[in-house]
Amino acid sequence: MTVSGPMAVEEHRNWEDVDYTSLLNGQAFPPDFMWGVATASHQIEGGNTNNWTRFEPRSKSGQESGDACDHWNRKDADLELIQDLNVTHYRFSLEWSRIEPEMGTWNEDAIEWYSELVDQLLEKGIQPMVTLHHFTNPLWWEDMGAFENESNIVYWIRFCSKMFEVLRDRVEWWCTINEPAVYASMGYVLGEFPPGERSFKKTRKVSLNLMRAHARCYRTLKSMEHGDSRKIGLVKNINLFDPYRRWNPLHRFQANVLDKMFNRCWIDGLKTGRFKPPSALRSISIDGLKGSSDFIGVNYYTHLLATPFMPTKVEIDPLIRPWEERTDFRYPMYAEGLKRAFEMVSPLNLPIIVTENGVADNDDDMRPEHVRRHLHITAEAIQHGHDIRGFFHWSLMDNFEWAEGYEQCFGLYHVDFETQQRTLRESGKLYANIAQSHRMPQVVILAGGLGTRLGEMTKHQPKSLVEVGGKPILSHILEWVKRQGCYRALVLTGHHGDQFDGFHFPGIELTFVKEPEQLGTGGALWNARDHLEDEFILLWGDDYHPIDYTPLVHNHREASSRLTMTVTTEHDEMNLQHEAGRLIHYAKTGDIPKGFNGYEAGTSVVNKSVVMDFGKEGTWSWEKTVYPALSTEIHVHLDSTKFWDMGTPERLEQLENFFNESGL
Ligand code: BGC
Repeated sequence: MTVSGPMAVEEHRNWEDVDYTSLLNGQAFPPDFMWGVATASHQIEGGNTNNWTRFEPRSKSGQESGDACDHWNRKDADLELIQDLNVTHYRFSLEWSRIEPEMGTWNEDAIEWYSELVDQLLEKGIQPMVTLHHFTNPLWWEDMGAFENESNIVYWIRFCSKMFEVLRDRVEWWCTINEPAVYASMGYVLGEFPPGERSFKKTRKVSLNLMRAHARCYRTLKSMEHGDSRKIGLVKNINLFDPYRRWNPLHRFQANVLDKMFNRCWIDGLKTGRFKPPSALRSISIDGLKGSSDFIGVNYYTHLLATPFMPTKVEIDPLIRPWEERTDFRYPMYAEGLKRAFEMVSPLNLPIIVTENGVADNDDDMRPEHVRRHLHITAEAIQHGHDIRGFFHWSLMDNFEWAEGYEQCFGLYHVDFETQQRTLRESGKLYANIAQSHRMPQVVILAGGLGTRLGEMTKHQPKSLVEVGGKPILSHILEWVKRQGCYRALVLTGHHGDQFDGFHFPGIELTFVKEPEQLGTGGALWNARDHLEDEFILLWGDDYHPIDYTPLVHNHREASSRLTMTVTTEHDEMNLQHEAGRLIHYAKTGDIPKGFNGYEAGTSVVNKSVVMDFGKEGTWSWEKTVYPALSTEIHVHLDSTKFWDMGTPERLEQLENFFNESGL
């Protein structure tokens, strides 16, 4: 069904007919998709003193944030909750009022807390995304007028640079300002957020300064060390406005005006560098604004139906279509609008990240369907060519919902605010399953092999620990693995496993499994079976094989294969025959029969069921046992990217040269 007219079509689908199977079998999203959950400091930390704490007694709900989720004191346990959701990324914000409680006074303990949070996330293989401004200001800055005065921006930039210095070596993803249009309209038009004003004049000034601040922040961080390689972007809430009656020109006019003020002027500003603040008559050029985002963050929640008599107070129920369902927030669930949000930002030609999407639904009877619908729309948009890189569910857990206080519950975890107990909701389980079925599989590295031809060096040292280009080959392998979006690795260390003690690799959750004696490749896998995920990527710890994992994993999943091996056709020896995408014949050693046309290049995707079928105690070889037995069933993924082994001193030197030349 569509409610159409001259404006953007307001599509409505019959969701009963939609097939969600691909959401759960890992085939709706690319394997390197970012799966995340999002929070904001003031909504979860508790114990803050900022513009919000001062405003709360006179806010709509009158509820005070108080201890919130007491996250400041429960960080470690909450990190486990995040990990249990199988997400690859976590978006959180830095509380400026904690970090710089007085102008120019830095609270090192607070800085250390965030720094530790980042380290802990990386240890767990969860990649951090930092938001630099999410609605809150320190009181000293609020008293100076916050974003009302252009001259105040310099203080915020100083804070951003300071935190960038601290975290830039470990944090890749940075959001400058969360939802500038919400900050401006809620604080200065509707008066529901601090400072609780209703002034168009101030709204214009604040909007302009928010855009200036964003642009300056982007340019400043980009010019700093590591700035080049970090991804920095604006987070824009897209709130759709549709005319309540399409045929009514007044409704259309109203929808259009609101759309321009809330959405279009901000997006156009980013695109052109000229910004026309809401209700302003002319646009103003902002230095450095054009192109000041490496990605665009989209926060999407709903659409609103416009009439000239729309309530300007949130207490009055907004209009909805008769078939729509209201969320606890009273606005409707309208997943189709997410597609329109993608279309709206697509002229920016930037990678898109859904930095927030979720629903207030305390009893969780709507959230599972909300999650499915919005992910379905996102997957479809990717298929239609939109460059969407990730999806962050709002929110990890129930929290302090600004002017609504604790009444609106957005969490995948329910929080009992009396006891601070967190309970995973059904929707949380669903989200965790969808993320797990899509994310890059665990990587399993056979890292215990000793070098027989490398001389003294590796008689007692696993080859994977041999240094090349200044660090162990294993670190180079993990670097590649991480770039491919794999954040969990199981390292099978052989019987010299103690030598891996103290080995770290931030950004990947590492598990080491040692062997009591030399077990061979098959024995090593069997020995580690309790740690294997249902699907994993198998690698050799002494080979560097920089192939693109996305098509490999995609092929494996699409073919419902149990074992997919990468085969190169450009190698001086051949050890297998393949035909029509299947392995026909494999021979690791001995005479190479005629007709052999490929070489096993080392990176394969394996379902754990194969290990369980062939598993046995003792020493055995994976490749010599499984490959011949499963030939014709094994899928072949052709990729002739050169792989590097380091079995001999000459090859080690070649690999060293490769690293030096490629800068990897
Ligand atoms: C904000 C969040 C808020 C969420 C739900 C977003 O606009 O960024 O802080 O909790 O909406 O209303």
